Amino acid sequence: MRPPELLIYPDAQAGATAFATELRLRVAADPELTLGLPTGGTPRALYAEMVRLHREEGADWSRVRGFNLDEYWPMAADDPQSFARFMRERLIEPAGFDPGRMRIPSGEVAEDAVAAHCAAYEEEIAAAGGVALQILGIGVNGHLGFNEPGAAWDGRTHLAALAPSTRARAQAAFAGREVPHRGITMGLGTILDAGSVVVMAFGADKAEAVARALAEPSPACPASCLLQHPRVTWLLDRAAAAELPDAHA
Ligand code: PGA
Repeated sequence: MRPPELLIYPDAQAGATAFATELRLRVAADPELTLGLPTGGTPRALYAEMVRLHREEGADWSRVRGFNLDEYWPMAADDPQSFARFMRERLIEPAGFDPGRMRIPSGEVAEDAVAAHCAAYEEEIAAAGGVALQILGIGVNGHLGFNEPGAAWDGRTHLAALAPSTRARAQAAFAGREVPHRGITMGLGTILDAGSVVVMAFGADKAEAVARALAEPSPACPASCLLQHPRVTWLLDRAAAAELPDAHA
């Protein structure tokens, strides 16, 4: 098994800029590249740079296919806290992606239709030829998407319960509203099927989770499942790399 590649940048902006440049090259070579895409604080700088490359340097993302990692459930697509709205406002519209080629699990499906919706999501990924490059963030508890500690490593897209710590971290953004208790997420098995994986982590609060994910495979740290994947790159800033055994941070 090829060991994970570690790329450690001085700060998040430097990492995001380098990765956006790399993505542009990959998409120039393969305009219909299929990406797995995250939301949250972590990818903001990457998406902002992809927008800048489109607006100022003519980067063409219009034929890229995208499958998002997760969405709260229940959640209206136009809710300010929905991941659908995050993607539309921060990437799809300003960077010139084709909305018809971008997919995100729906937080609007009725409970008795969720299982069929998840199965259809998996089928659509398969019909697209699979995710070529899965981009991820990592939770402070080591989660990937809403695959919280204890999640099955062969799981497919499903409705999952959010960990209390995940809900607590989201509370500030939800202001006085209740954070959903559940979300639809690609499973760890879905993630492990991707051709290659890039995990981004920035900031000191991610350092422990990054160190645990790279130490040994353990169900207590879902991101450690990536130790079983042959093509994983960790894109870190110095603060997130600080607890690695031989960090150069
Ligand atoms: P963040 O979330 O990017 O907002 O830190 C990452 C995650 O919880 O997966």
